Amino acid sequence: MGKNVGKDSEDYGKKWVKKDEERENVYWPTDRLKEKCHISDKEIYEKAKKDPHNFWSKKAKDMFDWFEDWDEVMEWNPPYFNWFLDSKTNLSYNCLDRHLKDKRNKAAIIWEPEPLEEEKRILTYQDLYRKVNKFANKLKELGVEKDDPVTFWMPMIPETAIAALACQRIGAWHSIVFTAFSPKAVKQRMEDAGSEILITVDGFYRRGKTIELKEQINETLDEIEAENCIVVQRAETNPSMDQERDHFYDELMNKSEEYCEPEPIDAEDTGFLLYTSGTTGKPKGIKHSCGAYGVQAALTMKWIFDIHENDVFFSTADIGWITGHSYSLYGPLALGATQIWYEGSPDYPKPDRLWKIIEENGVTQFYTAPTAIRALRKEGDGWVEKHDLKSLRILGSVGEPIDTSTWKWYFEKVGGGRCPIVDTYWQTETGGILLTSLPGVGPFVPGVAGPPLPGIGYDVLDATGEPVKEEESGEIVIDGPYFGPGMLRGIYKNPEKYEEEYFSEFGEEVYFSGDGGVKRELEIGGQNLIEVTGRIDDVLEVAGHRLGSAEIEDAIDNLDEIMESAVVGKPHDVKGEVPAVFAVLKQGETGSDELRDKIVKIVREEVGPVATPYAAYFVTDLPKTESGKIIRRFLKGLVRDEELGDMTTASNPSCLSELAEKVGYNG
Ligand code: PRX
Repeated sequence: MGKNVGKDSEDYGKKWVKKDEERENVYWPTDRLKEKCHISDKEIYEKAKKDPHNFWSKKAKDMFDWFEDWDEVMEWNPPYFNWFLDSKTNLSYNCLDRHLKDKRNKAAIIWEPEPLEEEKRILTYQDLYRKVNKFANKLKELGVEKDDPVTFWMPMIPETAIAALACQRIGAWHSIVFTAFSPKAVKQRMEDAGSEILITVDGFYRRGKTIELKEQINETLDEIEAENCIVVQRAETNPSMDQERDHFYDELMNKSEEYCEPEPIDAEDTGFLLYTSGTTGKPKGIKHSCGAYGVQAALTMKWIFDIHENDVFFSTADIGWITGHSYSLYGPLALGATQIWYEGSPDYPKPDRLWKIIEENGVTQFYTAPTAIRALRKEGDGWVEKHDLKSLRILGSVGEPIDTSTWKWYFEKVGGGRCPIVDTYWQTETGGILLTSLPGVGPFVPGVAGPPLPGIGYDVLDATGEPVKEEESGEIVIDGPYFGPGMLRGIYKNPEKYEEEYFSEFGEEVYFSGDGGVKRELEIGGQNLIEVTGRIDDVLEVAGHRLGSAEIEDAIDNLDEIMESAVVGKPHDVKGEVPAVFAVLKQGETGSDELRDKIVKIVREEVGPVATPYAAYFVTDLPKTESGKIIRRFLKGLVRDEELGDMTTASNPSCLSELAEKVGYNG
């Protein structure tokens, strides 16, 4: 029994959740969990509802240290809003300096490198503080100032956290690009942000291979005439370096001043940009605030993952996505928590890598995406059964709907039937979690995310903008001005897009999420639980990663053979969905396996390996409206083998029979 590292002997292996005695598939926290949790009373929903802005104001003061207080909590000029007006704070200060008094030697980040033969690295709060200060000074020396964008193309290594916190310290904005995006995607994001500096690595390890980033990005750096590139040496490769422009991280850090004063930053100043896919066009730079965003990340972290002093939190989310920002970086560090960062693939060298990390580090809260759970489940129960996972208290799910069968496996096999699952629904735009049941309040229902967080005004509307009745489906929205403080503050340099994408469907006072949902009858604290059914627009969720159909189509349309293409999500048993391409060929061209390979190649080059198409159908026409817009609803129906619905909206319905035949549609 005693072999679990870091276990809290009193809690070890306790049952934290129990079945509802009357209803099937409904679970509640046990009294033991309620006693332990920061929030265990459903009255919090009622209290927050009375005055949500005042509620957030009080919480913001509890959670963060502010250099200057605010006079006004929230200002609302639909569709724009500001929080904590004229206050000043600093995210790096809140994640580091204030913890030094009593947590100086506590582990902040336990880093697990992918190669098993390499030792893990532990950075205490003091270590992190020193390195962040030194690196912030170096950024300043290189000419980076407040409000300058700094692009990262970085994997999950501690230097990524150090560099991000260093940006926060001086008020520069990081813009982190996922490593499975291509150099072209990095270029696009640097150009859009006007970023003149890139932070990257020589290489890193993924599934036993060395992924060399610096070598891949050299050409881009030349093309955009970047001023500086900082290279962390992680993989002992020997990348070519430009004497003037490129600097090794270690060399910079060897000669740096020890202390950097944290810049007092307006709570509404931009904290970072994160590019994400929308319904049309290129990825958009979602602009997040600094202090207001940080409050929501920290508060949701505390409530939803119920973080306590000796806990060890492990999120598998990569830093290139919003989950990596809010719950692998700012949320845990703002609370002074200990967390795991893992560099590599969940199944390397064997499919029990994540379970091994949980066991060896005594992880108490584990947060991952359904796609990872499905992939590991497929490998067989033996891999998880081999490990003692009794240190776990709470399990989390994010990124896509979790089906009942995957939920049950996660619950039984990983959580031993003891741990609640917090199914957390949110988006890059919302900055923090919006819908989920709280662990000390419940209930937990497979496939149902839960009620909105206290202080958030959520609803499900029908096409006319009226709230749907219980057990009916509709579109998920947030009623302004009851957004959480972590909500986006705009799209960088593109206010029209912000208004059109989020505040046009139901008017300028209602934020439209792009997701469909069902308002369930079950309620808690006067709030109905919501089941999220998935995107109803042209955004794809591939293995929990958000991709825009337009970006993939733009890449494919570069091919000489192709006149036009349309990309939709095709169901996949592990990844949830994968890109499927419908391509109309130019006259005289014929579809072939070589052309399929060319499509795959160009998508990997232009967008990145993350967007690799799984199927390509060569067709003579695509279904369109009278005004020439492609009707993706039909294409989605075909690849999903679902009812196609009313076809009279198509100007060319005759093309559907060819499409159905190519796809093998039986519906
Ligand atoms: O469709 C929803 C899905 O992921 C989208 C947001 O993607 P992204 O901005 O990359 O952020 C992912 C991590 C927060 C949403 O519009 N999604 C996210 N969480 C869930 C989900 N779908 C169902 N259930 C969830 N728990």
